[in-house]
Amino acid sequence: MSFKVRKAVLPAAGLGTRFLPATKAMPKEMLTLVDKPLIQYVVEEAVDSGIESLVIVTGRDKSAIENHFDISYELEQTLQERGKTEIFEQVRGVADIAKISYTRQKQPLGLGHAIYQAKDFVESEPFAVLLPDDIIDSSTPALKQMIEVFEKYQSPVIATMQVEGEAISRFGVIDAEEIAPNVFKIRDMVEKPSVADAPSDLAIVGRYIFTPDIFRAIETTTPGAGGEIQITDAMRNLLKERDFYAVRVDGVRHDAGDKFGFLKATVEFALKRADLGEEFRDYLRTLKL
Ligand code: G1P
Repeated sequence: MSFKVRKAVLPAAGLGTRFLPATKAMPKEMLTLVDKPLIQYVVEEAVDSGIESLVIVTGRDKSAIENHFDISYELEQTLQERGKTEIFEQVRGVADIAKISYTRQKQPLGLGHAIYQAKDFVESEPFAVLLPDDIIDSSTPALKQMIEVFEKYQSPVIATMQVEGEAISRFGVIDAEEIAPNVFKIRDMVEKPSVADAPSDLAIVGRYIFTPDIFRAIETTTPGAGGEIQITDAMRNLLKERDFYAVRVDGVRHDAGDKFGFLKATVEFALKRADLGEEFRDYLRTLKL
C-alpha cells in the first residue's frame, strides 16, 4: 500500500535563547523577514508541497502564533471600511491558509520530545516535520523535493545540505551513499558531532518525512546531546529496522533563528522583493563599508 504525505508537524516550542532579548515576550517564530513571520514562510512551503493539515507544537507565551493564523475581525472590518482591499485579502489569506491545530510541549525536553507531542494528530500516516528556524529559499519547495523521493521509496526521508568546515558540528550529520543524483541511502547519523568525528559534510537540515513508527523509536530514546531527547538519536534507533533516505535539497538555507543568519536572510529576501528590492539595493550601495 502506498501512502501520501498529507500532514505536517511544526515544532515551535523553543525558547529562542539565541535571539534574546527580542524573543523575551515574542515567539521567535514570529520574527519577520521583511513583513512575513518565519513560521508563515514554513507553513506556505508545506501547503505548496501538498500538505493539507498541520499541527504546530507550541509552548508557553506562543499565543501570537495562533492569533496570526486566526481571523482578526476588527482589523479585517477596518481594512474593508477603509477600502484597503489588497491588504485585507492578504490578511484574510493568512487565516485561510490551511487547517492548523495546536498542541503544547509542556517542558523543553528536546526536538524528539516536541515531535512526540504530535502523535495523536498523526495517527497512522506518514508525516512531514518542518523546523520554522530553517527557511529554505528554492524554486521547488524543499519539502516537495523530498515528497517525490518518499513516494518512490515509501521510507523516511530527511533533507541534507553540504556544510563546510567547523559549522558541521552545529548539525545532525549523516553517513550516506549517493544512490541517485542528490538522493542518498543513509548508513548512520550522529547529532552535533565534533568536527573530527563528523562522518561527512552532509548536514541534516530542518525538514523530515517520517513514518509513524518514529514515535515508538522516540519512546525508547534516552537523552543525548545537550541532555535532550534528540530526533537524530530516535532516527538512528529506527535505522536498525528500516531504510532511511536523504535528499540534497536544491535551494538556499537560512538559519533564521541565529542573528547573523537572520540578517543575511533579511537582506536577501528584501533584495528579491518587487516593491522594495531596487530601492534597497541602491541604498546598500551608498553605505561606506
Ligand atoms: C536541529 C536538529 C539537527 C539539525 C538542525 C537543523 O538542531 O537536532 O539535527 O541539523 O536542527 O537546523 P537545532 O538547530 O534545533 O539545535
